[in-house]
Amino acid sequence: MQFDTLLTPINDFLPCPTPQAWLDEAKKPERLPILLQDHLVCELKAGQTAMYLLRRYACNDESSKHLLQWLKPFEDFAYRFEGSLDDLKRAEKLSKSIIGRSDFEHSDLIISKMVLLIREELHHFCQVLEIMNGRGIPYENITASRYAKTLIQNCKTHEPQIFIDKLICGAYIEARSCERFAALSLFVDKELSDFYISLLRSEARHFADYLELAETISKTDISQRVKFFGDLECRLINDQDSDFKFHSGSYFPA
Ligand SMILES: [Fe+2]
Ligand SMILES: [Fe+2]
Repeated sequence: MQFDTLLTPINDFLPCPTPQAWLDEAKKPERLPILLQDHLVCELKAGQTAMYLLRRYACNDESSKHLLQWLKPFEDFAYRFEGSLDDLKRAEKLSKSIIGRSDFEHSDLIISKMVLLIREELHHFCQVLEIMNGRGIPYENITASRYAKTLIQNCKTHEPQIFIDKLICGAYIEARSCERFAALSLFVDKELSDFYISLLRSEARHFADYLELAETISKTDISQRVKFFGDLECRLINDQDSDFKFHSGSYFPA
């Protein structure tokens, strides 16, 4: 599949393109370390979000415990500075199959999509870390941008709407990431450009999977909630932001 074909559903779904002000900032060589450090953490957070949804809604108790162990080496690295890239590469794959809850008709669909998504995000984590190591960019525990947390803070607080809202937020976060990787690929060096382009296929599928899950699982039409989060997402992407990160808005102090 070509670049444009992959991006068409992403650009159709997103309420606005990334503003030029963010791109101009992202082009500055001095911004590369923070972009890569934030990208690394975003890959782990994408895996953790999918893991939460799997454990909360789809898998049985034994599988839930096993899933926690899968992420542990990555969380140890990110939050406790323990382990190495080689340790993480050995931990990328899940060693047991995951069994669904018998009382939820969509468990198997969620498991099939989210287990693949987590595996890919953990692989991306290792790829970003390898690129950082190759460039002598240290891993630092940085603060999260306002983007994902504001989306999640605006989810309803009752079931079943909270689940559907979180799936819709997942679709926006994956779609925006995909759009920014494509935009960044046009002006970074060849190694990074090739890497960002290689991410497009899986990130575009993650977007489509989240949206499909929301549409399939919701018993009501989701278009109003998609529009609500789209309006919010557009504001987060366009409004002034003094914190430059991968998902930031468009103003940065000198
Ligand atoms: Fe990813
Ligand atoms: Fe993703």
